[in-house]
Amino acid sequence: MVPNKGQVLFVGVSMLSLLSSSFATVRYQPEQVHLSYGEKERSIVVTWSTGNKTDSIVKYGGGDQLLQSKSGSCTLFVDGGHKQASQYIHRVTIYYEDPDSLQPETKYYYHVGSDLGWSPVFWFVTPPMNLTGWAPSIAIYGDMGNVNAQSLPRLQSETQAGLYDAIIHVGDFAYNMDDSDGEVGDEFMRQIESIAAYVPYMTTVGNHESAYNFSHYRARFSMPGPYENMMFSFNMGPIHFISFSTEYYYYLRYGFKMLVKQYEWLENDLKEASHPANRTVRPWIITMGHRPMYCSNKDNDDCTLVKNRLRYGLTPLRLFALEDLFYKYGVDLEVWAHEHSYERFWPLYNYKVYNGSFDKPYTNPKAPVHIVVGSAGCQERVDSFNALPPWSAFRSSDYGYSRIKVHNATHLNLQQVSDDLDGEVIDDWWLIKEMPRIKFPLAEQMTTEENQIIEPSNVLKGL
Ligand SMILES: *[C@@H]1O[C@H](CO)[C@@H](O)[C@H](O)[C@H]1NC(C)=O
Ligand SMILES: *[C@@H]1O[C@H](CO)[C@@H](O)[C@H](O)[C@H]1NC(C)=O
Ligand SMILES: *[C@@H]1O[C@H](CO)[C@@H](O)[C@H](O)[C@H]1NC(C)=O
Ligand SMILES: *[C@@H]1O[C@H](CO)[C@@H](O)[C@H](O)[C@H]1NC(C)=O
Ligand SMILES: *[C@@H]1O[C@H](CO)[C@@H](O)[C@H](O)[C@H]1NC(C)=O
Ligand SMILES: *[C@@H]1O[C@H](CO)[C@@H](O)[C@H](O)[C@H]1NC(C)=O
Ligand SMILES: [Fe+2]
Repeated sequence: MVPNKGQVLFVGVSMLSLLSSSFATVRYQPEQVHLSYGEKERSIVVTWSTGNKTDSIVKYGGGDQLLQSKSGSCTLFVDGGHKQASQYIHRVTIYYEDPDSLQPETKYYYHVGSDLGWSPVFWFVTPPMNLTGWAPSIAIYGDMGNVNAQSLPRLQSETQAGLYDAIIHVGDFAYNMDDSDGEVGDEFMRQIESIAAYVPYMTTVGNHESAYNFSHYRARFSMPGPYENMMFSFNMGPIHFISFSTEYYYYLRYGFKMLVKQYEWLENDLKEASHPANRTVRPWIITMGHRPMYCSNKDNDDCTLVKNRLRYGLTPLRLFALEDLFYKYGVDLEVWAHEHSYERFWPLYNYKVYNGSFDKPYTNPKAPVHIVVGSAGCQERVDSFNALPPWSAFRSSDYGYSRIKVHNATHLNLQQVSDDLDGEVIDDWWLIKEMPRIKFPLAEQMTTEENQIIEPSNVLKGL
């Protein structure tokens, strides 16, 4: 049959309407749910995404019924790629200060969304009333991707079994969050929901987040402070954690302003944290930065060089050198990643070992202790090592992650879990410090001029 003009038009129109109805997708369903600590100690921020705009509500409760409700807001995030893929990122903060908001040491069930769609039910446990006496457990690692996320299944079962109070990811997410118009980032965030929706998932920025001036990292997470997740500090019981950007030292093409700002911010934060009134209740200061000052890997990365930018500062003026700053304020532990391996160092300052004593190097050490924990698993596989330098104490290229458990003001336990060895703890050691904290010996001699803040105008002249 030869169709006449009218029939062709009719078929054409109905095909068009069929097409438009089957392609008019809405995405109201919440996904990529994750938690973080908020501005105030004990507050919890719940973050998630939807494709289309909806309200932002968390319903939660201490039992089966989610009778409590808290609303927040959302922001539109547009990926910088060709497709300009967009999503709404929702944030709701639950404050303890609100009357009847959250009780200490309680398991809360919650779901997120709006009248247009709710997520599955997740849960989180609140810290005890006495934060000074709290002995939190933390899983910590860097360099975990969407492909070959070797450590993730073990972290999923351990987190859901209640082993951890928080997880810290020290840079390099997804590989990369901006790839395939942001789909790799979305899939990564769905993948970590199985851990990040149960405990606060705290972060540090890495080099793999550099695209579009770190826009994915800045948009997707909800860390405390005004600097869009790039630098912030938070407290967990007796620990003061400081997360900062090592990337400001390397991506100078995005500008110096934030590098200057960060150095000022770090010094100020360290000054406050180490004031006796604070250090007495929160004696442990732990820093997280993605690229290490020290490593013994066979890859010619910056950490293999003595004039490492973070440690030594930007040459020739040694601008913003961090080793002296962290030493001066008696930082206890410096956690790094980037190298796809695990490495523990003897107490170390300026390439010299400062053991507490020969037999007990980590009891009252005379310098900070560095560890590198970048072997969680990604498509770039693992890194091997050069000959063992005298300042390196233990290293392994197995896939895995670390555990930090602060027992009290004087005892901190660290473990390295090997995923290759089916979860075996391959390194287990204690950092022991008497109270009150004493200054590291050379810090007494450090003059304020050595650590003075450099004026931005001089920085620009010097580079
Ligand atoms: C949902 O989002 C898509 C993609 O941004 C958009 O094209 C569509 O118009 C939105 N639909 C509604 C009902 O808002
Ligand atoms: C809180 O814990 C600390 C450390 O264990 C203890 O010294 C202090 O007495 C406790 N405070 C209260 C109010 O229980
Ligand atoms: C990158 O972002 C920072 C804020 O984090 C801003 O100060 C800087 O100007 C931006 N750089 C460029 C090149 O857009
Ligand atoms: C103690 O730390 C808080 C922030 O956690 C800060 O606001 C306060 O100024 C610090 N106290 C002192 C005496 O530095
Ligand atoms: C530090 O202690 C370790 C362990 O006892 C030892 O192997 C190393 O030689 C010590 N280093 C120095 C400089 O004393
Ligand atoms: C601190 O914890 C360690 C390890 O659990 C324990 O041996 C020590 O007695 C504790 N110290 C105090 C003062 O409770
Ligand atoms: Fe990296």
